[in-house]
Amino acid sequence: MTQDELKRAVGEAAAAYILPHLEEDSIIGVGTGSTANCFIDALASHKHLFDGAVASSEASATRLKEHGIPVYNLNSVGSLDFYIDGADEINERLEMIKGGGAALTREKIVAAVAKEFICVADESKLVTSLGTFPLPVEVIPMSRSYVARELVKLGGDPVWREGVMTDNGNHILDVHNMKIASPMEMETRINQITGVVTNGLFALRPANILLLGTQDGVKTVKAD
Ligand code: A5P
Repeated sequence: MTQDELKRAVGEAAAAYILPHLEEDSIIGVGTGSTANCFIDALASHKHLFDGAVASSEASATRLKEHGIPVYNLNSVGSLDFYIDGADEINERLEMIKGGGAALTREKIVAAVAKEFICVADESKLVTSLGTFPLPVEVIPMSRSYVARELVKLGGDPVWREGVMTDNGNHILDVHNMKIASPMEMETRINQITGVVTNGLFALRPANILLLGTQDGVKTVKAD
């Protein structure tokens, strides 16, 4: 199977996973990226079974609306049973690096609200240790150079993702060559730098379950 076929398979598997739990008033947290898009497409044929969705980006909101799925503002929603999203890297503890699509902050917010975070990924995303994928850090624009200097002190090589503005009007630094011995500690440390909105480590709130697309089918992985 190609990578796209694996993404479609996990998108469908995620829809099948949540369907039995959906009720008329259910609102689903939806992530961002090509794998999350496969989930949105799989969800569309079941839209009569639930109320709507909260999206982690303008791009996902648009795709949901194109399918006729109502999109709610998170502030008008009390709780979410599920958040479904992809990852750029995920380890066996289901800690992740996310933000390749620059949507990390909204993703982290929606994930924080959700009771269950279901990560959907093809097998290329599973790693033994996080950090080969450059770690995205969302920064307030005027703090960009300062934050970059602080990230160098932490051992990374930050590169400004020029030309990209997040949905929140901020900039992204992609940190290369960062040694991430403890994802939880590093997530906390980077978030303490003044000017950082958040970073793409999802270790304090990892996924609860990983639906992994492999050549032998979709595997369900729970944190070890
Ligand atoms: C978006 O900002 C990211 O966190 C995505 O979830 C991540 O980049 C995975 O995207 P793909 O499914 O396109 O690989």
